Amino acid sequence: MEDPKYMVAVVGAGPAGLYAARKLAEGGARVVLFNRDVKPGGLAEYGIYPDKLKMKQGLRAQFKQILDVPQIDYFGNVTVCCGGNIVLEDLLESGFQAVLITTGAQGTKWLRLPGENLPGVYHAKNIIFHYNLLPPFSEKKYLLGKRVVVVGAGNVMMDVAHYLIRDRKVDEVIVTVRRGPADVKFTRKEMESVGCNLDLAAFESEFTRVAPTMLSAGQDPAASKAAFLDALPRALAPISSTRFRFEFLVSPVRVLGDWMNGVNALKVEENTLVGVDGNVKARGTGNTRQIDADTIIFAIGDTVDKDFCVPIFNDAYVSAPQPRFPVEGVSFEAYNPDTDQPIERVFLAGWARLASTGLVGVARRDGERAAQSVLHFLQSQGPMRDLDNVLEKFEQRLVETHERVVDKAHLEKLAVAECAEAQKLGLEDFKFATNDEMFTAMGY
Ligand SMILES: Cc1cc2nc3c(=O)[nH]c(=O)nc-3n(C[C@H](O)[C@H](O)[C@H](O)COP(=O)(O)OP(=O)(O)OC[C@H]3O[C@@H](n4cnc5c(N)ncnc54)[C@H](O)[C@@H]3O)c2cc1C
Ligand SMILES: NC(=O)c1ccc[n+]([C@@H]2O[C@H](COP(=O)([O-])OP(=O)(O)OC[C@H]3O[C@@H](n4cnc5c(N)ncnc54)[C@H](OP(=O)(O)O)[C@@H]3O)[C@@H](O)[C@H]2O)c1
Repeated sequence: MEDPKYMVAVVGAGPAGLYAARKLAEGGARVVLFNRDVKPGGLAEYGIYPDKLKMKQGLRAQFKQILDVPQIDYFGNVTVCCGGNIVLEDLLESGFQAVLITTGAQGTKWLRLPGENLPGVYHAKNIIFHYNLLPPFSEKKYLLGKRVVVVGAGNVMMDVAHYLIRDRKVDEVIVTVRRGPADVKFTRKEMESVGCNLDLAAFESEFTRVAPTMLSAGQDPAASKAAFLDALPRALAPISSTRFRFEFLVSPVRVLGDWMNGVNALKVEENTLVGVDGNVKARGTGNTRQIDADTIIFAIGDTVDKDFCVPIFNDAYVSAPQPRFPVEGVSFEAYNPDTDQPIERVFLAGWARLASTGLVGVARRDGERAAQSVLHFLQSQGPMRDLDNVLEKFEQRLVETHERVVDKAHLEKLAVAECAEAQKLGLEDFKFATNDEMFTAMGY
């Protein structure tokens, strides 16, 4: 790699940030990665289901290779945002020529329904972080009952159902879907992990109920049914008696219960299907009913963190409608719609730019294209003077003024300690579940 001539901060070390960092370094930038979590990887480490260990280990190996690049520095346990360890302006004023935000969609999407704050109501992200051992979620108790409603029909719902059925072995998981069976977003592969628990009688009767609405919207109930059932021959053998079923064409309108006893039902409005601009949408009929439940989990996608002080639209940070450095027609430049001005030197990628969209490969591609956009901008600015000196001063100040900043050497020590622990316990994988244990292993 050539000697660095630009200095760039990447905020967020999930897939988008890590792959972007490598492209930036290849393009002549000295890159500093800041990450809220101690460990890199974002949702690839703390979202992907724990039993996909091979995939996780493959990604960890790639991320390690990226962090081994000498032109890339890593500072974990550092939150950059309005109320965080560092604010965005600090970075822009400390010599970084550009800042790429790849913080993912790690805020909570509230529907503002009455009862949404009751005990027993959760957002999928928190449960997922809990079972993937991300502090502090790993240290919290999530009181999941016996009869759980999961709202949403994407792959995150499937991961949550997998956990409820195979790990927590609850009595019943009821998935509520605002549109019909033809509009679910999960993949067959994910259905395979829970398909054996599907209550086939309930499934048949629900299909019979919604078939006329599907037909009126031009959908084919038989084809949709086959798409669900295709997964069953390859489904994992059941290890619980959890009853798993779907209720289609219903939207949540209120969580019923009280503060003493928690949730007792989800009130839903029944929907019909209507065609809007070539898409099938749900429209409320005004009829409501209750689905009894002691726990409600919303798996409806997430939103970006509001603490970042970058304007938000459609759950993601806003990118410029007329970018100056587009890549393949896509804008990666942050933008303020109130002033109708770009946010100078600030770029976006991954789920921070398009919330809850796509797999790791999509985030990678987005990060890499964003890096190209940043490089085009840097080329228009010219090389930075006195780069080594400015960077050294910044990093020295960071380590002196912030507690327990995690660098690449710390990550190495942590990996060795976790590997030793796995060997000692005879496990394929071991993760410390608290930051304190990680810091002790790193020698802090
Ligand atoms: C439950 C779940 C399961 C998934 N399973 C799969 C799967 O099996 N296969 C697959 O290919 N894809 C899967 N995905 C999708 C994949 O994880 C995402 O596409 C990808 O992780 C998005 O990458 P990202 O870098 O944009 O964001 P993220 O992965 O969310 O990374 C964001 C990073 O930014 C950091 N951060 C956040 N805020 C700040 C801040 N203020 N300051 C500093 N750092 C910050 C976080 O600590 C994190 O490291 C799954 C997603 C979810 C939610
Ligand atoms: N195993 C894997 O590979 C894996 C695992 C997890 C996640 N991922 C990926 O991560 C991304 C995000 O997944 P996701 O499941 O969070 O999102 P998703 O695929 O967009 O699914 C979100 C679900 O929530 C519903 N929903 C949204 N807003 C709603 C509301 N207000 N009321 C009721 N329902 C609502 C959506 O319905 P509508 O369709 O009607 O909008 C949809 O069914 C996806 O690309 C997914 O494939 C992959």
